[in-house]
Amino acid sequence: MKDLVYRTADSYYKAKQFANENPEAFWADIAGNFEWHTPWDKVLEFDFLTPEVKWFLGGKLNITENCLDRHLKTQPNQTAIIFEPNDPSEAAQHISYSELHSRVCRAANMLKANGAKKGDRICIYMPMTPELAIAVLACARIGAIHSVVFAGFSATALAARINDAECSILLTSDGGFRGAKVTPLKEIADEALTSCPSIKNCIVLRRTGQDISWNPIDLWWHEELEKVNDVCPAEIMDSEDPLFILYTSGSTGKPKGMVHTCGGYMVYTAYSFKNVFQYQKDDVYWCTADIGWITGHSYIIYGPLAVGATTVMFEGVPSYPDYGRFWEVCAKHKVNQFYTAPTAIRALQKHPTDLVEQHDLSSIKVLGSVGEPINAEAWHWYDKYVGKHKCPIVDTWWQTETGGILITSLAGVTPQKPTYATLPMPGIQAVLLDNKGNEIEGETEGILAIKYPWPSIARTIWGDHERYKNVYFSAYPGYYFPGDGALRDAESNFRITGRVDDVVIVSGHNLGTAPIENALNEHPHVVESAVVGFPHDIKGNALHAFVIPSTEVSANKLAEELRALVAKTIGPIAKPDRIQVVRGLPKTRSGKIMRRILRKLASGEHDSLGDVSTLLNPEVIEEIKKNN
Ligand code: WTA
Repeated sequence: MKDLVYRTADSYYKAKQFANENPEAFWADIAGNFEWHTPWDKVLEFDFLTPEVKWFLGGKLNITENCLDRHLKTQPNQTAIIFEPNDPSEAAQHISYSELHSRVCRAANMLKANGAKKGDRICIYMPMTPELAIAVLACARIGAIHSVVFAGFSATALAARINDAECSILLTSDGGFRGAKVTPLKEIADEALTSCPSIKNCIVLRRTGQDISWNPIDLWWHEELEKVNDVCPAEIMDSEDPLFILYTSGSTGKPKGMVHTCGGYMVYTAYSFKNVFQYQKDDVYWCTADIGWITGHSYIIYGPLAVGATTVMFEGVPSYPDYGRFWEVCAKHKVNQFYTAPTAIRALQKHPTDLVEQHDLSSIKVLGSVGEPINAEAWHWYDKYVGKHKCPIVDTWWQTETGGILITSLAGVTPQKPTYATLPMPGIQAVLLDNKGNEIEGETEGILAIKYPWPSIARTIWGDHERYKNVYFSAYPGYYFPGDGALRDAESNFRITGRVDDVVIVSGHNLGTAPIENALNEHPHVVESAVVGFPHDIKGNALHAFVIPSTEVSANKLAEELRALVAKTIGPIAKPDRIQVVRGLPKTRSGKIMRRILRKLASGEHDSLGDVSTLLNPEVIEEIKKNN
């Protein structure tokens, strides 16, 4: 593969200009670096109003041939994945490209032997073990559409995702290790599967060895593998065939199954990975995300493997066995690029700096941040203690929907600016809009929008194209609307200011407030609820729930039950930090809950509520203020 990288600011700015003037030629040139069975006959077809986006039309490929087979010719013994287990006393595993290829092919044959074929949906609910990456790639090998569900989600959330995509196979594990905890994944999956009629087989990886119950559809992963060999030709896919579905929260109750396709996603994740992190051959790259999120899909698996990189997969958490674990792992594997989330940095920042300083971090060349705005304090701590003031920090803005990083600096190539994601990647046309949808120029603040497609934009919401249109393309016709606000400085750098809709980013996780309210409202003693975010010094944002009970209840007991209910319905990550029992919620005369006011109340900004006299029930404000 030709070096896809801009190593100088000059080549970067030239590429940017070329991409703006000749977008199709620009992307065709990049796509030419991959192996296609049949080249595309048209680079792009799009209409943001319908909306429809197609890239590399007529092109045929298999992404796993680009991520695996291709590297067997040049670097079969290169390490593809370094697996670092939760428990530091368990040995790390180094999986070479040739071993990974063999294990993926064998797993692909295991899926085929159990009835899987091209176009089927396969749900993956697994801990961060090498088999999770192998499962993802095995699906891609045979053209089955993977739907990875983060292993922290509850049985109800898992079942909803399986049913939405009508998955035919579930891949799971007996349990998962995460810090000092063992998560009973199989038990949760069993509960989910009581309401998932589409699942025909459940293949179970043995990881923790804990006792589990066994059902007629269950099969052991290791036993199934023994029945098949490791020869599995790749299914030839159309560029626009779906590669995977990944669910993300929205402003309404139902999660959105974002659909990514084979060709464009491959091109963009590889291109962005190499450029943003300035990866060089033999570097060891570590992204601490979970594969259950888009960051893990694009920047643990597909992007790095597509360029033949060595990618670290970590099973554990930053606090186990102590808050020095990240740095111990960086030193142990001589990590060169380290990519994590601001919430992790803020949590680590609270602990003594010796936990960082006692480890040799001299291998690190590049630091990255993702998932939410990084505040100045966390940025400077990261720069000083981890980067020793000599590593560029890339603050990468993107989304599940965008498939890859859209706004960022390129490490060491373009200027960084603390708390700013900085500039759109070459090929990305980002603009700011005012409330009416007019583009605004220069140093200003507005609504972030993208006005031209890029190859890894999600093509639809599984089974609901109308919703895709409404959420992303209707508010500002002619633009992709990501749901974030931003400001721009005089040098055209973007700083993302946060969500402009009812999604709250808690510890880097996207949480829609509506599904949490739905869960709270399920409680027999809750009449109505409203959930908003408020600033939190470690999580970035935390959740404050206002609930109206139906009878006199003990507020503490109700809060405890509600937290348990949210954990059960969605997952522990969605539990509100605060639950406030109220007699009423501020409403407009048309009955709409005034979330803007609740956000201020939850943030303690009692004096900047604005005019509340037009509310239907201004009296509730005083009561809420008194008690919060
Ligand atoms: C937020 C994660 C500021 C943003 C890759 C976006 C960020 C949402 C940044 C997507 C960043 C992500 N600076 N905000 N560098 N990165 N966000 O789908 O609000 O889990 O819309 O994708 O996270 O979250 P998602």
